[in-house]
Amino acid sequence: MEALECRKLGDPTIPPDSSQNSPLTVSKSYPIPKLISSTSIRVRINYTSLNYATYLQVLGKYQEKLPPPFVLGSDYSGVVESIGSNVTKFKIGDPVCSSAAKGSFAQFIVAEENELFGVPDGCDLVAAAAIPLAYGTSHQALLHRANLRSGQLFKSERFVVRLSLPGSKKVEFLKSVGADHVVDLSNGGMIKSVKAFLRGKKLKGVDVLYDPVGGKLTKESMKLLNWGAQILIIGFASDEVPLIPANIALVKNWTIHGFYWGNYEAIKAGGIEESVKELLSWLARGLITIHIYHSYKLQEVNLAFLDIKERKVIGKVMITSTSTSTSTSTSRL
Ligand SMILES: NC(=O)c1ccc[n+]([C@@H]2O[C@H](COP(=O)([O-])OP(=O)(O)OC[C@H]3O[C@@H](n4cnc5c(N)ncnc54)[C@H](OP(=O)(O)O)[C@@H]3O)[C@@H](O)[C@H]2O)c1
Repeated sequence: MEALECRKLGDPTIPPDSSQNSPLTVSKSYPIPKLISSTSIRVRINYTSLNYATYLQVLGKYQEKLPPPFVLGSDYSGVVESIGSNVTKFKIGDPVCSSAAKGSFAQFIVAEENELFGVPDGCDLVAAAAIPLAYGTSHQALLHRANLRSGQLFKSERFVVRLSLPGSKKVEFLKSVGADHVVDLSNGGMIKSVKAFLRGKKLKGVDVLYDPVGGKLTKESMKLLNWGAQILIIGFASDEVPLIPANIALVKNWTIHGFYWGNYEAIKAGGIEESVKELLSWLARGLITIHIYHSYKLQEVNLAFLDIKERKVIGKVMITSTSTSTSTSTSRL
């Protein structure tokens, strides 16, 4: 089968197989994975999406280190192709999606049945491949760590304050999908801008900080938090782990939640399954839509990594093998 392998750690923006320095290689004859237990399932992959974590994995900067060689890729959707003798939840032909620690940038993947989510009728398989890690993290962190209720989640999404890279197209896009307030970081004055927005809404401060960026923005954002606020530590896209002073957390009665989707199921069984099921049901009912930024073939994966590195992506970047093609319209800004 076709598969994208990481043969050594390095810069994933170098084209696969282009030089000795390229950490990535596209294999045309990678062995099709075999079922590994009586409850395992082989999925024929239709669509996959790229996550920031995969970028960090190839750079060797991700918290869970994978020794090369390994096949890249986490989120995917596809169809059940083969099942172990004790599988009860799925049958051959069922549409499924999931997120793996590695291995989805290929034509087949093997997973345990309890790692797969059934894709309900009415759900687009392209969108289903974009959901598990990114949307699952936000859903689980906001609903189950910060304890927002489902209705509040939609409300909080409307009230969301998004910080964005300079570039009017990105700012305009965020406004067009309903963000109440977008801060263009090129103009500086993040605190001033958010405070003015809060004043206009007769609000004193922010109750929940969802933080996938870290660094200086976390430090600045702390000046906006209310007494009793909750901080969700999600990631460090700025490449800087922030320090949150314990004395200020004490005085202001803040709650700081660490959240890691990758091992949450092991700690709270059923939590991730319920969360992804709910997201897929929202997708089927048209309550959420997934914005696909662009779709790249395996051979062009370096361009997808470059888009992530240069912060051009809005929504999700899809990666497809030569045997698949996406009919979904994309908007590469
Ligand atoms: N805890 C978990 O379970 C979990 C799950 C998923 C992801 N993560 C982590 O969360 C982080 C983001 O992942 P993602 O999938 O959300 O990535 P993404 O879709 O590529 O988004 C990255 C975001 O970070 C912002 N950003 C990047 N560099 C920045 C900088 N120097 N200063 C300010 N903002 C910056 C970008 O802002 P602009 O829009 O302005 O460009 C963009 O919104 C990563 O560290 C990832 O590993 C953690």
